[in-house]
Formats: sequence, C-alpha cells, structure tokens
Amino acid sequence: MTISTANPRRTRHVALIDDVEAVPAGVPAPSADPRPRDARAWVREIAAITEPDSIVWCDGSDAERQRLVDLMVDAGTLLPLNPELRPGSYLARSDPHDVARVESRTFICSREEVDAGPTNNWREPEAMRAELREVFDGSMRGRTMYVVPFSMGPVGGPISQVGIQVTDSPYVVVSMGVMTRVGDAVLRLIDDGAAFVPAVHSVGAPLIDDTGAVSEDVPWPCNDTKYIAHFPETREIWSYGSGYGGNALLGKKCFALRIASAMARDEGWLAEHMLLVRVTSPEGRRYHLAAAFPSACGKTNLAMLRPTIPGWTVETIGDDIAWLRPGPDGRLRAINPEAGFFGVAPGTGVETNPVAVATFDRDTIFTNVALTGDGDVWWEGLTPEPPAHLTDWTGQDWTPDAGRPAAHPNSRFTVAAAQCPTIADSWEDPAGVPVDAIIFGGRRATNVPLVAQAYGWEHGVFMGATISSEQTAAAEGTVGELRRDPFAMLPFCGYNMADHWAHWLRVGASLDPEKRPKIFQVNWFRKGPDGGFLWPGFGENSRVVEWIARQVDRSRGTRTDRGAVESPVGLLPAPGALDVEGLDLPDGALEALFEVAPEPWLAETQMTAEFFDTFGNRVPDELWAQLARLRDRLESSSPK
Ligand code: OXD
Ligand code: MN
Repeated sequence: MTISTANPRRTRHVALIDDVEAVPAGVPAPSADPRPRDARAWVREIAAITEPDSIVWCDGSDAERQRLVDLMVDAGTLLPLNPELRPGSYLARSDPHDVARVESRTFICSREEVDAGPTNNWREPEAMRAELREVFDGSMRGRTMYVVPFSMGPVGGPISQVGIQVTDSPYVVVSMGVMTRVGDAVLRLIDDGAAFVPAVHSVGAPLIDDTGAVSEDVPWPCNDTKYIAHFPETREIWSYGSGYGGNALLGKKCFALRIASAMARDEGWLAEHMLLVRVTSPEGRRYHLAAAFPSACGKTNLAMLRPTIPGWTVETIGDDIAWLRPGPDGRLRAINPEAGFFGVAPGTGVETNPVAVATFDRDTIFTNVALTGDGDVWWEGLTPEPPAHLTDWTGQDWTPDAGRPAAHPNSRFTVAAAQCPTIADSWEDPAGVPVDAIIFGGRRATNVPLVAQAYGWEHGVFMGATISSEQTAAAEGTVGELRRDPFAMLPFCGYNMADHWAHWLRVGASLDPEKRPKIFQVNWFRKGPDGGFLWPGFGENSRVVEWIARQVDRSRGTRTDRGAVESPVGLLPAPGALDVEGLDLPDGALEALFEVAPEPWLAETQMTAEFFDTFGNRVPDELWAQLARLRDRLESSSPK
C-alpha cells in the first residue's frame, strides 16, 4: 500500500481538474470504447472534485488489509469476534439508516429515456452530472481516498473486465478485497492499455465543512442523500451517501450487472443475476448449470446444494452473478466474475445450509448480525433456538421475547469464495465453464409446475421474461397480483428490459443450435389447498437437478429413454422420470406439483400481455408469438 498524495509511478502531484485532459464529451463513435485509459489522470480528476486529505493506491495485499482492519477496529467500525470461535472475523454495525440497496435512488443515465426503459429510474446524463458534481464537491475532505484497482473475473481472463473504484470508506476497500480481485496486476493491465470502468464512491460525510470546521468521525459515516448512478454509455458508476453492500461495493450489482449488461448488449455476451454450479452424476458425467432467481428464493441454497440422492454431487462456482459468452466452439461459457460471497445471513443455518455455515467459520466480515455473550455471531435461522441473551444489530440488549429480530433482516456475511468447502476446482478457470442448462426460478404458490423444460431457446427466453412471484401480504401491493422480475434482473438491468429479451434472442441465434444450453423453469414454492408447500425443497431439489441433467443427456442422444411429456407450458417429467423414491410426499402432491390448469393459466397470459404492453413496441415480436402459442396450447388442452 502506498500512502501519499502523489502518483506512485510517476510521482506527480494531485492535479487540479483544469490540468487534466477531460474525458471526451459528446457521443462516442459506436465502435469506440468510451472508457478512460489513463488511471492517474482520472484519479487526479476525481481528487480535484472530492478534495481528500490523501490518496492511497491499494495493492490488495494481506498487510494492507490488516492495516485497514486495525484502523477500523480503532475507529469502532469493526468489532473483533472471539478468535477461538470465529478466527480472523469481525462484526460491523452500520448506521441504522444505511442497511440495504436503495432502488429508489438507483439511476440509469442513458442519453435516451427509452434506453433505460420503464423498469429503471432514468435521469438525463448531463443533469445527473451536475447534481453529482454538487454533492461530490469536497465530499472527501478530511478523509483518505483509496484507489482500488479490481478485476471482475480472473485477472486478464478473456471474459474478465477491470475497474477502478475510488472510495473514502476503508470498510469498502476491505470488502472489495474479498468480493473482487484487487491488486497491482490489475493496474499493470490498465497501464498496458486495458480500458477500465471508473467507479467513484463517497460516503458523503466530509470531516471538514465549507467553513473549515473539523468534525469527529463516526463508526459508520454516510449521508441521508444517496445516489447510485450509472452511465451505461460511458460505462461509469458514481455512488454517494451509502457505505452498504450493493450501493457501495461497486464491482457487484453496479458493475457486474448494470454496467456489464450494457457492455454485454453491445458486445454479444450476457451479464446475468445467476448462480453457477457444476453437477456430477454417479457415472462421473459433468453438467454446468446457471440459474436466475429473484431474491428470497433460495439462491444460495441451490449454489451450495447437498444432494439427497446417492452418487450426485453439486459444486459451487458462483452464488449471485454469471457472465456468459459464446465461446469459439459455439458453446456458451460462463464465469463467476466475483471472488467472494456477500450473502444474506438470516435463514442461513446449520440445518438449511451447512456448506455456507462452514464457509464463514473464519476470516469473515459480518455486518448487522447479532453478537453473542462469548463474542460470536447469531441471526434468526442460524440455529433452531436463539441464545437466551444477545446484543442485537443496533448494539442493544436482546432476549428472545424482545419482539424484534436480533439481526437485521438484510444482515450479511462477506467471505472469500475460496473458503467454500464445495467450491469447484474450475471456479477460477479464466475461459469459463461450458453451460449445459439455464434455469429460471420464481416463488409461485400457484400455476407454475415444480419443473418444466422450454420447447426451445425462444420459449426459454419467454420463460425468463415472465418470471414472477405472487404478491404476499408482507409486501406492498394487492395479494394475488404477480410481481414481475424478468430474468431476476428487475433492479439490475442497465438498459431497457425488453431490449434485454431481444438480446437474449440474438445471443441464442449466435450459438450452435446443437450446443445451446437447454432452458428450464423451476418452482420450489407451489402450495397445496391447505396452504402448505407441496415440495420439501433444499437437498431434495437435487431430484429436479437430476432430471434436468438427464434431459441434457437425452438432447445429446446419450440417453434414449423417455424423459418428458408435453404440456401447454413446457415439457414435464414423464411418469417415473423424476426420482421421488424415499420422499414422503403427501397423497396427490406429485400430481398437484405438475398440474397445469388451463383457466388460471389463461388468466395469467392476460396479465403477461398487460406486462408486455408496459414496454410498448420494444417487446420482440418473437415473445408475442410465444405468448400466442402458449394461449393456443392452453385453449386446445382446455375441456370444451
Ligand atoms: C443481492 C441481491 O444482494 O440480489 O444479491 O439483492
Ligand atoms: Mn443478488
């Protein structure tokens, strides 16, 4: 770690904005990469705006991490946990008003509003630049500005990308060190000419005000005003006011999804909100699955699945994001661009996800969880019974009768993926893994079967575009209404969602039809008439994974038995093809899990048409054709 206000390589002083060559304004030529190349010039430019006391170029080393951790322990930002119980681990408690992603303050600043589309908050780029300029002006006064060169994906890999985040939060630097690959190797790539995504972050809490008055720091500085702004055309990210999660760790949702999805659209690849796993059959055959689920649908549990069926293994490659690119062999190859997990703690437990629990047994930063009397962590669902006494996430005494959760519902663990006991040995292969199947999941109490296979790529894109969950009483809106989350990308697509569907159709067309991944839809959450779940879920989901893998075999001719039957909504497991042996399913549950009742489905197609209409003429004709075909199939299956 270099501590100075000078350039570490060329020892220039922090320049005033006027000294710096401006990033060319105006519309870049379509083929020109609009990103900056000169890291020092860009850093000087940002420093001239934000006016930090000093600039630190981060090298991602253990010594640097330790120095920052010690600094945060002294400042009260991090609390060391009991080294016997949780070695190398810390608890951070955020400001109670800075606990989650703020979608209402997340902006897509494309030149044309229609390019952001109806599902994003759009702002005119120049108007947003003016607003940002105002809040960032002097926002780092009295603080250190850290410069974090990072790679999404293995450094230098053909699917990887690089970025530089400047931030005034040491918590963010240390977290970025877990979630991405930080270091000099990245800076060397940039020095050698690699274009980088510039990402500016400030917690918005200068320690010196306009009059020169100095204030004391607090353990979790932030600002009530927040901006998470993206400029997809110039590939820039500007984040202000929050130190938390996806608002502040800019490699994750901001870069790897919002900006990368726009890059992918322009360059013919896919940046998706998908976990990635390697499945191995008893005979040693390997399959790679990428799966998109909206939040609270058990994504981490599938990424770390422990199969209940003998002979099958599931290994983890990624838990949240996948970048997929057509390879030279006509197959779709995928990497996990991240290097760590930023997982939701509540509900992750010894019984529900022992793999995750083993992953964070050491060297983990926990944020907003509860603290036990002996200096360990706890949250709702970690163990079936809560401890008799805790310190809750706000630092208050807590007992089980407190009437409030001990951990914040969005409390998190930040931990290196390499610590996961089920991590696949190929998880860092720069060329990615070949994807055999793509899965779309939602949380549906009704209609959607446990598993269905798409009739083809285009039908699969239709399945992705129509992912939805029933509105529950816990959320705003009318109960029974469908909450749409196409491709599980609703808050993460950096451009018009309907264009995303068109892009998926284009990518599919660019792949060898024989080698294209097969597409499936799953729903672990269907309920019976008594309101109970019909499917046990968790490790038993391996039975569905097995059927998916066998369908891949059948499509390749390596298996010839009959695996599926047609239904209006897709291919369903043929009788006996889904292994339910040893499962104690209630009477009629299997039939109910696969029931496709025409009437409610036809009502759902009407809702889908209304949803598509919200995108005006941007919806690809092919998706309207898929909807019409679904209606035809439902009508012809309907008893006359
Ligand atoms: C996440 C999310 O944190 O999807 O992964 O919100
Ligand atoms: Mn996510």
